[in-house]
Amino acid sequence: MKHNLLELSYLVASITFLLGLKLMGHPRTARGGNLAAAAGMVVAILGTIFLYEKSISGIVAGLIFAALALGTAIGWLTAKRVQMTQMPELVSMFNGMGGACAALIGLIEYPNYLGNPGALLAILAGVVIGSISFSGSLVAFLKLNGTLARPLRLPSYNFINTVELIGVLTLTLWLWQTGPAPCPAPCPLLYVLLAASLLYGVLFTLPIGGADMPVVISLLNSFTGLAAAFGGFLYHNYSMLTGGILVGSAGTLLTLTMCKAMNRPLSSVIFGAFGANSGTAVASSAQTDGTIKDIQASDLAVLLNYSRQVVIVPGYGLAVAQAQHVIHELETLLESRGVQVKYAIHPVAGRMPGHMNVLLAEANVAYEKLVEMDDINPEFEQTDVVLVIGANDVVNPAAKTSPDSPIYGMPILEVDRAKRIIVNKRSMNAGYAGIDNQIFYHPNCSMFFGDAKKALTELVGELRALS
Ligand code: TAP
Repeated sequence: MKHNLLELSYLVASITFLLGLKLMGHPRTARGGNLAAAAGMVVAILGTIFLYEKSISGIVAGLIFAALALGTAIGWLTAKRVQMTQMPELVSMFNGMGGACAALIGLIEYPNYLGNPGALLAILAGVVIGSISFSGSLVAFLKLNGTLARPLRLPSYNFINTVELIGVLTLTLWLWQTGPAPCPAPCPLLYVLLAASLLYGVLFTLPIGGADMPVVISLLNSFTGLAAAFGGFLYHNYSMLTGGILVGSAGTLLTLTMCKAMNRPLSSVIFGAFGANSGTAVASSAQTDGTIKDIQASDLAVLLNYSRQVVIVPGYGLAVAQAQHVIHELETLLESRGVQVKYAIHPVAGRMPGHMNVLLAEANVAYEKLVEMDDINPEFEQTDVVLVIGANDVVNPAAKTSPDSPIYGMPILEVDRAKRIIVNKRSMNAGYAGIDNQIFYHPNCSMFFGDAKKALTELVGELRALS
């Protein structure tokens, strides 16, 4: 009876994970999806504690609940305090913890499954993949919060990494093939495998540019999912297995989607140097000539006031400046004066998938106003003013015109088709790809310099002053 109830709790959890993932596919239902999956996870945890065939002592139960309370408090507070721009850091840290759990399960269970080759392989895979994910995620976290600002490249790092990986795989196979006898617990070689896997996670992540970290985090996320799925296989725990498989496959799909949207193969993210110098103008692949014009808030207010259609292109700078509320204020003000306003959403605008959607949803921008790249591009011709706020690479025509550009081939928002282009940013510095942008020199383009929040607040003030 107890066993059946336990299985039922895992079934409920698995269904909520699937349902949660489905609901997360739309901003309006995403919150509910997250809550449904979290509730399923609570059911699975409580089911495991109270319905497991071997009952646990009072002390162990006390320790488990103390750990649950501590973990919940830390997780809750951290998630509450984190800024949207720090979200990849948070995901990286949470992901690392998942990898560490999978590795610890492997270490603890190793002595219990020595005679079972299938289970032993799952254990060793959990140790290796979980450790790589843990140490790799910590390095990614340190890179994203600026502690490890520069990518560190050992000489011939590709060679060193490959040798290290071959070493890890060989040791794994050796521990698996030799079965129970040669390395009974406590097996020192198991700890060598743990250390080698942790080292590989560091070596793998260290040379990758800080700006490429979202792709790496998504990849490490899929590793953690895989490691958790091995745990589920080991324990015949279907909720762990379903959850692990979903995280593993979603992480893989996300990694590939990001690479596709940036038009870069995964190998170039892992082995290339692109994005190593994000945020600074380090390279110029487009020949920039001509002069730039700037525009003041008062003139821009008049221009917008007499427009029929305005398209806003939000980018990473909007998120950094936390200007989502003031842009919404500008949008409602313009709409109240009969101007039609839409937002053009590029799939990799910002620094994580769906970054702009989440940011604008936070400011209560109606979801119908967000128009995807393929749908908005044909509309630019009828647009009077396109307002680019803290975006750069996603509107850079070099992606279409310069075969030697690192972003060549990446689909872009074709803002040059609009009647007027206004770009808000603080300086002429480059964006993520570190390249200059010819659009700033376009005859129809004017620069509206300043921090997005400050500049837009001033613009809203000027617009209100117009009768
Ligand atoms: P970027 O090309 O990075 O440009 C952002 C611009 O915002 C910068 O040029 C910067 O110029 C400006 N900025 C920074 N702080 C600002 C502030 N406080 N106020 C106003 N402007 C500010 O951003 P994007 O156009 O959104 O493109 C995203 C890039 O990230 C793409 O290259 C994409 O491939 C990459 N990427 C995206 C993802 C995902 S999934 N979204 C993942 C990995 C990489 P100033 O310094 O002059 O102000």
